[in-house]
Amino acid sequence: MSHASPIVDEPFPFPQRWGDEEIERLSSAMRQKSLFYWKGPQTEALYDAFRAHYPLKHIFPCSSGTASLHVAVASMKLKPGTEIILSPITDMGSVIGILHQQLVPVFADIDPHTYNSDPASIREKITPKTGAIMAIHMCGNPCDMEAIMNIAKEHDLIVIEDAAQAWGARYRGTYVGLFGDYGCWSFNDFKHLSCGDGGMVGTNSDDIGSHLAKWGDKCYNRITNVRNPDELTHNYRMSEPLSAICAAQLGKHNDIISRRVRCGTLLNERLADTPGISIPKVHPEDTHSFYNYMFRIKLDELTVTKDEFIAALKAEGVNANEGGTTEPVYSYTLFQTHNFYAGTWPARDLGLTTMDYTQVCCPVAETFLKERVNMPINEAMTESYVEKVALAINTVAQRFAK
Ligand SMILES: Cc1ncc(COP(=O)(O)O)c(C=O)c1O
Repeated sequence: MSHASPIVDEPFPFPQRWGDEEIERLSSAMRQKSLFYWKGPQTEALYDAFRAHYPLKHIFPCSSGTASLHVAVASMKLKPGTEIILSPITDMGSVIGILHQQLVPVFADIDPHTYNSDPASIREKITPKTGAIMAIHMCGNPCDMEAIMNIAKEHDLIVIEDAAQAWGARYRGTYVGLFGDYGCWSFNDFKHLSCGDGGMVGTNSDDIGSHLAKWGDKCYNRITNVRNPDELTHNYRMSEPLSAICAAQLGKHNDIISRRVRCGTLLNERLADTPGISIPKVHPEDTHSFYNYMFRIKLDELTVTKDEFIAALKAEGVNANEGGTTEPVYSYTLFQTHNFYAGTWPARDLGLTTMDYTQVCCPVAETFLKERVNMPINEAMTESYVEKVALAINTVAQRFAK
């Protein structure tokens, strides 16, 4: 039974994400003599704007979130074959740097309600070869950082926080990215804050941090101006125009985050008792910053398939989708064929690991992906728009409840 007009009877709102602040900064960059990052005024402005929210001692703006994670992973200096535990529900950007360093991604299962790594599963995956945990704050819902930091302490492991999707998310009141040894963020086009493509890596560790930049700047020492690389690193620098945009975007951080938090929290309130669906669980003392709104449909409580449920939502004007992929990362072809370097995987071919991704299974993550429904959230959504979305989801769920 569909309505003559959809319940969400207005177009999906799109925010004007960039404006006068970005234009002003970009114009001033265009009048500079150089657009190089080192000592660049836009880069310095970005440092200040970032640290106003995330007061990390050492930071390096990067060309992407993937690059920021690679800088973090490479600077840990873990020997090839060392294992890094992470969730299989993530972007390729979380694993690219790990594989490039000849390290071994080990996939721990997720919590079915937060969609983040389950600390119990992380614990089960620890071996003598484990070197680090990557805590990925999915969709902006904070991982259980106390549990993760305790496991890391017990086993002497490094913790990298992948906060690419988690700008403004708080664990027990403190921004995620500030708990582990490293925090990494993305400024790609889809994130809360964006310059098109960019990233940020930061750490409070003086051991690592004093030379964090070298891992993203060809191993050149800009401080001493000595050019004698002693290790193989990358060029992941962010140029001045992009830093200008990021600095301006960070000025809007609190406004953007608080609007998104209001939308996501309202949806969670309105859908708490909806039959046939399960909403993301947020700890009462945490802030989920709602990069997207992901929920699960309970297929055994509904008379329709996920595709039919999503089609019904769309017919009611809800901008819903299945969330990009129904595959966990380890099911991707490159993992299933171990095709990391022209058909080879040096770490395994040299006997440094026996990992076989065809044997990996995280059942909770796999079920989650079959049941996931995803909806974009943004700061242009009004309360009345979100109320309509909630009403539409409730109506569809009730229509198909067993
Ligand atoms: C969880 C997560 N990690 C890492 C990345 C990589 O970020 P980027 O696309 O900026 O390289 C993304 C981007 O989608 C992400 O969502």
